Amino acid sequence: MRKTSNLASAALLATAGLLTGCVTGKASESTTLKDAYQNDFLIGVAINEKQFTDGDQRGDPIIKAQFNCISPENALKWASIHPDPGPNGYNFGPADQYVEFGEKNHMTIVGHTLVWHNQTPRWVFRDSNGKPVTREVLLERMRDHIHTVVGRYQGRIKIWDVVNEALNEDGTLRPSPWEKIIGPDYIEKAFQYAHEADPNAILRYNDFSLEKTPKRNGAIALIKKLQAEGIPVTAIGLQDHDQMDWPTVEQEDATISAFAALGLKVMVTELDVNVLGGKQTAEITEMANQGGSNIYTNGLPPVVQQQLAERYADLFRVFVKHHNDISLVTFWGVTDGDSWLNMRGRVNHPLLFDRAGNPKPAFDAVIQAAQPANSK
Ligand code: GLA
Repeated sequence: MRKTSNLASAALLATAGLLTGCVTGKASESTTLKDAYQNDFLIGVAINEKQFTDGDQRGDPIIKAQFNCISPENALKWASIHPDPGPNGYNFGPADQYVEFGEKNHMTIVGHTLVWHNQTPRWVFRDSNGKPVTREVLLERMRDHIHTVVGRYQGRIKIWDVVNEALNEDGTLRPSPWEKIIGPDYIEKAFQYAHEADPNAILRYNDFSLEKTPKRNGAIALIKKLQAEGIPVTAIGLQDHDQMDWPTVEQEDATISAFAALGLKVMVTELDVNVLGGKQTAEITEMANQGGSNIYTNGLPPVVQQQLAERYADLFRVFVKHHNDISLVTFWGVTDGDSWLNMRGRVNHPLLFDRAGNPKPAFDAVIQAAQPANSK
C-alpha cells in the first residue's frame, strides 16, 4: 500500500523540515533516488557531453550516485549524430562515448530521438537543388538513419524514442516535413525500421502536454491505430515539462491510467518544473517567447522552495501509485544550472539539485514520497 493522504504527507513534509523553512536537502547523505525507488521504477537523467565524458566535476558524482538510467540531451538527435548527407555524414563519436558512459556505470541507456521535426538538418528533406525530396527518397533516408543508428547500438541502447512530438495540441497530426512529404504513415514506418534494427528494444512514442485531453485523445487514437496494424510500439513517453500548477495530480493520474490501459509501459521522460511560469509548452520555438517573469535571479525564496518540494511530492505520489505501469522517471537535467529552462537569460530552478549541486528540499520530498506508507 503506497498511497498516503494529503494530511499524512503534509505531516511528513513537516517532519522532514520541508514546511518549516529548511532550504537545504538533508536526505542526500543517507538515501539516493535510485535506491529509494528501486522497487518502483528506474530513475533517469538527461546528460550532456561534458557529463558523459566525465568532465563535469559537479554533475558527474550526482549522476553516478543518484541515477540508474540516462538519456542523451543532444548526442543522439539527428543533427548531432548525422549532420551531413552521404556515407561519411555520421558523427558517432559523442554517441559512442555516451553509451560507454552508461555501460561503465551500469545504467539503462535510452536513445533519444530518431524522428523529430526539430534538431534535424534541412538537407534531410531537400534534394541537391533545394527542392523537397519525394516520399520514396525520404523513406529511404529515414530507413538508413534508423538502421544505422539503432543497429550500431543494438542490445546496448534498450529504449528508443522512435517518434518525438508528432501531435498538435488538438490531437491532430503535426504537419512536420515528415508528415508532409511521406504522409501520416511515416510513424508506422519509423517504428517498423526501428524494430527491424533491434527487435528487442523498447520502442517509445514521446510527446509533451499529453495531460491535456484533446492531445491525449489524439495520442490514444494514434496508439490504437498502430496497435491494430501490428506496429511494435511498446511504451509511451510523457515528457512532463511541468509548471507549478499544471498538470494537476488528477490530470497526471488520468493520463497514466489511460495509456496503461492500452497495455503500454508508461515512462516519464523529461521531468522538470518551471517555477517562472509563462505559457505552458515544451515547444522549443515557443519557449523562447513564452513570457513569465525572471523573478528569481538571486535564488529561489524559501517559501517557493517549499512549494516546489510539495509539487514534486505530489507528482511522485502519483507515479508511485502507478508503479506497476511506470517503469522509468527521467529528469531533464542534473542541476538547475544545466536546465534548458534557463534559455534567454532566465534563471530557473526546475530540478532537484541547485546550481552548486546541493540537493534542494524538493530532493527530500521526492525521497519521502518513495517510502511505503507503513514505514512512514
Ligand atoms: C523536447 C525534446 C528534448 C529537449 C526538450 C527541451 O521536449 O524532446 O529533446 O529538447 O524539448 O530542451
